[in-house]
Amino acid sequence: MKLNIALLSGDGIGPEVIDQAVKVSDAIANRFNHSINWVKALTGAAAIDAVGDPYPLETHQICLNADAILFGAIGHPKFDNNPFAKVRPEQGLLKMRKDLGLFANVRPTFTFPSLIDKSPLKRERIEGTDLVFLRELTSGIYFGERGRKDNGNTAFDTCTYTREEVKRLAKKGFELAMNRSKKLCCVDKANVLESSRLWRETVQSMEKDYPEVTVTYEFVDAVAMRLIQWPNSYDVLITENLFGDILTDEASVISGSMGLMPSASIGLKTSLFEPIHGSYPQATGKNIANPIATILSAAMMFEDAFNLKKEADLIRNVVNQSLEESIVSEDLSNGGKSYKTSEIGDWLSNQILK
Ligand code: IPM
Ligand code: MN
Repeated sequence: MKLNIALLSGDGIGPEVIDQAVKVSDAIANRFNHSINWVKALTGAAAIDAVGDPYPLETHQICLNADAILFGAIGHPKFDNNPFAKVRPEQGLLKMRKDLGLFANVRPTFTFPSLIDKSPLKRERIEGTDLVFLRELTSGIYFGERGRKDNGNTAFDTCTYTREEVKRLAKKGFELAMNRSKKLCCVDKANVLESSRLWRETVQSMEKDYPEVTVTYEFVDAVAMRLIQWPNSYDVLITENLFGDILTDEASVISGSMGLMPSASIGLKTSLFEPIHGSYPQATGKNIANPIATILSAAMMFEDAFNLKKEADLIRNVVNQSLEESIVSEDLSNGGKSYKTSEIGDWLSNQILK
C-alpha cells in the first residue's frame, strides 16, 4: 500500500520524538511491503520563525492532500510569558483543528502491566484501566465569542455548541462504545450550563438508535474525582472541548507517564495523530524525551487511517516488549539505566525487522 503522510514535527521535543515514529513506521513499511511518502511541513513556533505564521497555507494544503497527518508538539516558552505576543504557536494548532475539521479528539488511557507501579495511584485502583475520552475539538469556549469591555477591565469567553456539533461527536462516541464494552458516559455540567443541557438533551435523543449501549450522565466535577478513584469503571467518555482538555491531562498520568499516551483527531477529510504531551522545552535537543506516545500514535494511524491492524499491533507488541525489558527513557527509569530517545527508536525498529 502507498501511504501519503504529512509530517508536522513542530516545536521543542517534537522533532526528536517524530524522528523515532518515522523510524518505526519505515520499519513497518519495510516489513509489510508498504511505501510511505513523508511530506514535511512547518507548524508552531518553528513556522512563526520561518514564515511568520504558525499554520501557513502551504502546510494546510499539504495536510489536505495527505491520507493522514503525524504531528509532534507545539509551543515555545518565549511566547508563554508574553501576554502581548501577536502570534502564538497555539493559534496554529487551533487553526489547524478548525480548518481541517478535526472535530473528535480520541484520547485513550490504559495501563501497561510492566509499569503499573510507576503510576501515582495505587495498583488496585488502576489495574485494568482501559478508557477512551472523545473530546470535542473544534467548538465550545475555545472558539466562541471572546473579548474585553469596560476599557479592557472586563474579559469574556463564551461556550457555544450547536446540536449538530454535539451529534457528530456523540455519534462517534456511540460507535466507539459499540466496538468496546458498550458503556458511554456523557460528561457535562448540566446542573449549571445551558450548553451542557443541549449536550445532554442531544445525547439522550440518540440513545434509542443504540439500544445496546448503556449511557450514563455525570457532572464534570464528579468525573474529575471518580477518574482517580475508580478509573477502571469507565469505558468511553464524551465531552466538550475544555472539560476534555482538563480531564485528559488528569487521565494521562494514570498510566505512569504523560510520555506514553497517544491520540487521534478525527477530521472531516484527513485525521491527525499526535502524542498527548506538549513540547517539553526543558528537554529540547537533549535526546531524553520519551518517544513512546508518538510511536503509539503512529500505531493508531496505521489502524485508523489505513485499516492496517496487523501493522498497528506489531508496533504495540514491540512497545510492550521494550517496557518489559526496561528499555525506557529517563521519565520511567527511576534513576536506573535509561535509554536515549533515539536508542529507543532504534531498538523498536530493529525488533520490527527481526
Ligand atoms: C491540548 C493542548 C492544547 C489545547 C493547547 C496547546 C492549545 O493543551 O492539545 O490538549 O488546549 O487543546
Ligand atoms: Mn491540553
